[in-house]
Amino acid sequence: MNPETKKKKVHALVVSQSEISPGIFDLRLQCALAYDARPGTFVGVYIPGNDLLLPRPVSICDASGDMLRLVYRVAGDGTGRLSALSENDSVDLIGILGNGFPLDKAAGRDVVLLGGGIGIPPMVYLMRVLGRDLSGTPGAPRSVCAVLGYRNADAFLSAECAAYGKTLIATEDGSRGIRGTVLDALKKEKIAADMICSCGPKPMLSAVKKAAPAGEIYLSLEERMACGVGVCLGCVCETADTDPHSMVHNARVCTEGPVFEASRVIL
Ligand SMILES: Cc1cc2nc3c(=O)[nH]c(=O)nc-3n(C[C@H](O)[C@H](O)[C@H](O)COP(=O)(O)OP(=O)(O)OC[C@H]3O[C@@H](n4cnc5c(N)ncnc54)[C@H](O)[C@@H]3O)c2cc1C
Ligand code: FES
Repeated sequence: MNPETKKKKVHALVVSQSEISPGIFDLRLQCALAYDARPGTFVGVYIPGNDLLLPRPVSICDASGDMLRLVYRVAGDGTGRLSALSENDSVDLIGILGNGFPLDKAAGRDVVLLGGGIGIPPMVYLMRVLGRDLSGTPGAPRSVCAVLGYRNADAFLSAECAAYGKTLIATEDGSRGIRGTVLDALKKEKIAADMICSCGPKPMLSAVKKAAPAGEIYLSLEERMACGVGVCLGCVCETADTDPHSMVHNARVCTEGPVFEASRVIL
């Protein structure tokens, strides 16, 4: 970790932005924060203009050298304005935020990545890093498989994920891949898993926690955030353990998360 960039507010240069699917934008930025990114971490994006003060949390979809890639859905005013940025514009970021997925635990394991909807972007980064490690280096997982869940055949980012390893698609309407949820696909294809990493809407994460095969499960939670840096307590989730400082069953998703071992959190 570069101490100069840890949780710093920095300027990023927009290298490109494109709409890869209706309402889904792929933003490529040049920024020193990229050196400190890891799969499952995120940045806070300050919205251009002076009226929307809170940074919007967005997961890192990939990072290489000083290049950072964010893929986001236009959900409201902030992300709407973000989507208007184009090449050579600049945008302020705070980061790198959050803990990321525990890559060190993947060694020798059958790792399955379960991504749903706008929880899919961080899975691309994770898939690339774990897929690369399959080259037989120490710490490599035994196998990696991504199962990506979509509403319909518009399976954004699935081709990129497939370039890094085995990738299955599940669609709610059955128009592509396996009809049903990511868990239906996991069961139907009899995919071995002794470590699961998942990111997606809360009902999906809750189902993964209940129904996934035995093994370690890591969930990337999404809560509404304000400061993004652990100060406002706006993003707490309920936990099974008591926090030793506050003596309450809470953890801050922005700081202790967003990735939690499933048994630690109550969904
Ligand atoms: C850790 C984390 C990672 C995320 N990664 C992605 C991603 O990779 N791609 C993506 O499309 N979206 C992601 N989101 C959701 C994204 O932050 C929201 O869609 C975005 O903040 C909406 O901002 P807005 O101004 O467009 O919407 P508005 O609804 O106008 O936002 C109003 C306020 O609520 C907050 N807010 C609204 N929805 C959310 C939400 N779901 N989570 C947190 N705060 C919210 C905003 O930050 C803002 O302060 C992530 C959220 C979290 C917590
Ligand atoms: S968003 Fe402020 S503590 Fe997490």
